[in-house]
Amino acid sequence: MWIAFTNSVADNRDGDIVALSSQTRAVFVSMDRIEPASPVKLSDKTALPLLLLSATLLFGLTRTVLSQVTTEHPFIEPKDIKSETCLTCHPDKKEGKFVHTAVTSGCESCHQAASQNSKTTITLLATGGELCARCHEIKPEPVLHGPYKAGQCMLCHNPHMSSFPSQLRAETNTLCLSCHGVNQPDVKINKDAQKVSMLGGQTLSFTDYRQSPKIGLDRSGTRGHPILGHPVAGKDPRQKDAPLSCLSCHTPHSSTVANLLPPDIKSSTGLCGECHQ
Ligand code: HEC
Ligand code: HEC
Ligand code: HEC
Ligand code: HEC
Ligand code: HEC
Ligand code: HEC
Ligand code: HEC
Repeated sequence: MWIAFTNSVADNRDGDIVALSSQTRAVFVSMDRIEPASPVKLSDKTALPLLLLSATLLFGLTRTVLSQVTTEHPFIEPKDIKSETCLTCHPDKKEGKFVHTAVTSGCESCHQAASQNSKTTITLLATGGELCARCHEIKPEPVLHGPYKAGQCMLCHNPHMSSFPSQLRAETNTLCLSCHGVNQPDVKINKDAQKVSMLGGQTLSFTDYRQSPKIGLDRSGTRGHPILGHPVAGKDPRQKDAPLSCLSCHTPHSSTVANLLPPDIKSSTGLCGECHQ
C-alpha cells in the first residue's frame, strides 16, 4: 500500500520517489503498517519539507530516502553551463538510434540554465508546440490533425531522442492506435482523475482522448479499416519493401483534404486506385 504526497496525479508507482516534471514532485511512502488515508494534497511547495518531516517521524523513513528529495537542480558553476556538463549527468538525452538534430546542436537550443546565489534554475525557452515552432514551420493547411493543431507535438515525438525515426514515441501504428484504437496495452485510462497516460509517460486529458475517433480493427489489430477485412499492416504494394501502415494512407500533421488523406488525393476512391486496379 502506497500513499502519494503530491500536488498532481501520479501513475508511476514503481519507485519510492518519482520526479514528475519541473513543477511536480511526488513522494511515495510505504503505508504497510498504517491505516490508509486519502492522498494529501499540497497546495504550497513550502509545505513539502514539513510534510516529509512528519512523514519521517510517523513512518520511520530513513535519512537516505529523505536526502534524495531535492526540489532544486544541482548547482552548476556559471562557467560550466554548457552541453558537455549537462551530458555528464544526463547522457541518455543524446543516446538513442535517432537523436534530434537540435540536441546535437546543444541543450541551450531549448533549455536555459542560469546559476545565481548558489542556485541553478533550468527553464524551457518555450512550452508545448511553441518550443518546436521556434525552428519548425507549423503548416497552415486547411485540415489540421487535432494534436498537431493543439501544439501537442510531444505526445508523438520525444524532444531528445528515440529508437524510432523522427524521434517518434513508438512504431507508427502503435502510436496512432494509442489514440484511435481501443484497449491498447500502453494506454491507461484513469477516469477518476480524468487523465489518460500515453506512450512515454505522456498524459492527455480524458476529454482530448475521447475526441479522437476510434477505428474498429479485428483482434490482431492489423485488419478492419477503412473497410471490413482491409489490412493496415503488412506490405505496401506501391513500393518494394515499404511497410503498409497508417501512414500509407494518412499524413500525420496536416492535409488539404479531409481525413488527413495525402494532399494530392481528391477522394477516398482515388486513394484506392493507388494500390488497386
Ligand atoms: C551534477 C549533475 C547534473 C548536471 C551537471 C546537470 N544536471 Fe540536470 N538534473 C540533475 C538531477 C539529479 C536532476 C533531478 C533533480 C530533481 O528532480 O530536481 C536534474 C534535473 C534536470 C531537469 C528536470 C528538472 C528541472 O529542474 O527542470 C532538466 C530540464 C535538467 N536537469 C537539465 C539540465 C541541463 C540543461 C543541464 C546543463 C546546463 C543539466 N541539467 C546539468 C543533475 C544534473
Ligand atoms: C528540442 C528541444 C530540446 C533540446 C534541444 C533539449 N531538450 Fe531537454 N527537454 C525538452 C523538453 C520539451 C522537455 C520537457 C519534456 C516533458 O515535460 O515531457 C525536456 C526535459 C528534459 C529533462 C527532464 C525530463 C526528462 O526527460 O528527463 C532533462 C534532464 C533534459 N531535458 C535534459 C536535456 C539535455 C541534457 C539536453 C542537451 C543534451 C537537452 N535536454 C536538450 C526539450 C529539449
Ligand atoms: C533549435 C531549433 C529546433 C527546435 C527548438 C526544435 N527542432 Fe526539431 N529539428 C531541428 C533541426 C535543425 C532538425 C534537422 C533538420 C530537419 O530535418 O529539418 C530537426 C529535425 C526534427 C525532426 C525530424 C527528424 C528526422 O529524423 O527527420 C523532428 C521529428 C523534429 N525535429 C521534431 C521537433 C519537435 C517535436 C520539437 C519540439 C519539442 C522540435 N523539433 C524543436 C531543430 C529544432
Ligand atoms: C499524431 C502524432 C504527431 C503529432 C501530434 C506531431 N507529429 Fe510530427 N510527425 C509524426 C509522424 C508519424 C512523423 C513521420 C512522418 C513520416 O515518416 O512520413 C512526423 C514527422 C515530423 C517531422 C519530420 C518530417 C517533416 O514533416 O518535416 C517534424 C519536423 C515534425 N514531425 C514536427 C512536429 C511538430 C513541430 C509537431 C507539433 C506542432 C508535431 N510534429 C506533431 C507524428 C506527429
Ligand atoms: C494524441 C492523440 C492522437 C494520436 C496519437 C493520433 N491522433 Fe489522429 N486524431 C486525434 C484527434 C483528437 C482527432 C480529431 C481531431 C478533430 O476532430 O479535430 C484525430 C483525427 C484523426 C483523423 C481524422 C481527421 C479528419 O480530418 O477528420 C485521422 C485520419 C487521424 N487522426 C489519423 C491519425 C494517424 C494516422 C495517427 C498516427 C500518425 C494519429 N491519428 C495519431 C488524436 C490523435
Ligand atoms: C488503406 C488505406 C488506409 C489505411 C492503411 C488506414 N486508413 Fe484511416 N482512413 C482511410 C480512409 C479512406 C478514411 C476515410 C473513410 C472513412 O471515413 O472511413 C480513413 C479514415 C480514418 C479516420 C477517421 C475516422 C472517423 O470516424 O472520422 C481515422 C481516425 C483513421 N482513418 C485512422 C487510421 C489509423 C489509426 C490507421 C492505422 C492503424 C489507418 N487509419 C490506416 C484509409 C486508411
Ligand atoms: C496503400 C495501399 C492500399 C490502399 C491505398 C488501399 N488498399 Fe485495399 N488492400 C491493400 C492490400 C495490401 C490488401 C491486401 C491484399 C492481399 O491480401 O493480397 C488490400 C486488400 C483489399 C481488399 C480485400 C480485403 C479482404 O478482405 O481481403 C479490398 C476489398 C480492398 N483492399 C479495398 C480497398 C478500398 C475500397 C480502398 C480505398 C478506400 C483501398 N483498398 C485502398 C492495399 C491498399
